[in-house]
Amino acid sequence: MDTSSIARITSPQSSPCNESLDNTITCSFRQAMLSDISSILEVENDSFDVKERFNSEIFTWLLISYPELFLVLECGNEIAGYAVGVIEANRCQLVSIAVKSTYRGRRLGKCLLRAFEDKCLKFNVGSIRLEVKVSNNVALRLYLSEGYRVIGKIKNYYSDGSDALLLEKRLSNI
Ligand SMILES: CC(C)(COP(=O)(O)OP(=O)(O)OC[C@H]1O[C@@H](n2cnc3c(N)ncnc32)[C@H](O)[C@@H]1OP(=O)(O)O)[C@@H](O)C(=O)NCCC(=O)NCCS
Repeated sequence: MDTSSIARITSPQSSPCNESLDNTITCSFRQAMLSDISSILEVENDSFDVKERFNSEIFTWLLISYPELFLVLECGNEIAGYAVGVIEANRCQLVSIAVKSTYRGRRLGKCLLRAFEDKCLKFNVGSIRLEVKVSNNVALRLYLSEGYRVIGKIKNYYSDGSDALLLEKRLSNI
């Protein structure tokens, strides 16, 4: 598939998710299904180091536990990304978000994040939290540009000994 030609991004979200990139492939969001897990694993394997990847058992548990907080991004007939979270202590936790490398840099990650936030709003939570590796500049830029702020650091959070930054965004419906 020629992913240089992703086109309209159709989603219920507001801009930038309706931006037109070109006219061949349409991307949209929907709730994940169990039958998506193998495609989600392809995104996972493409996006994270082997020791940090979730496996099918974890994805299945997440999907069964919080189906509304597990979104996939579908471009044409391919799963190009996902975002998944849980609710903890009156907060949404963004557990993971990824866009397949061939689809990155087209604002799809930003759209996915906004779609996830829209879902969280429905649960009447006050905030969203997430962890990001200190060296993950792309993800960090995404979060900071979307209104997340750094509220802490967790030492040795990742399997390679890297620290995590703890980020939070307050939601406006509370
Ligand atoms: C993080 C990720 C989901 C972003 O997805 P994406 O579709 O490439 O991101 P977008 O095109 O929507 O860009 C969103 C923002 O990210 C930042 N960004 C994207 N690509 C970037 C790059 N190459 N360099 C620096 N910043 C970049 C920018 O701030 C951008 O906003 P802008 O376009 O308004 O400047 C994607 O890079 C990914 O899947 N990475 C691997 C998995 C991962 O690290 N997940 C996060 C774990 S915490």
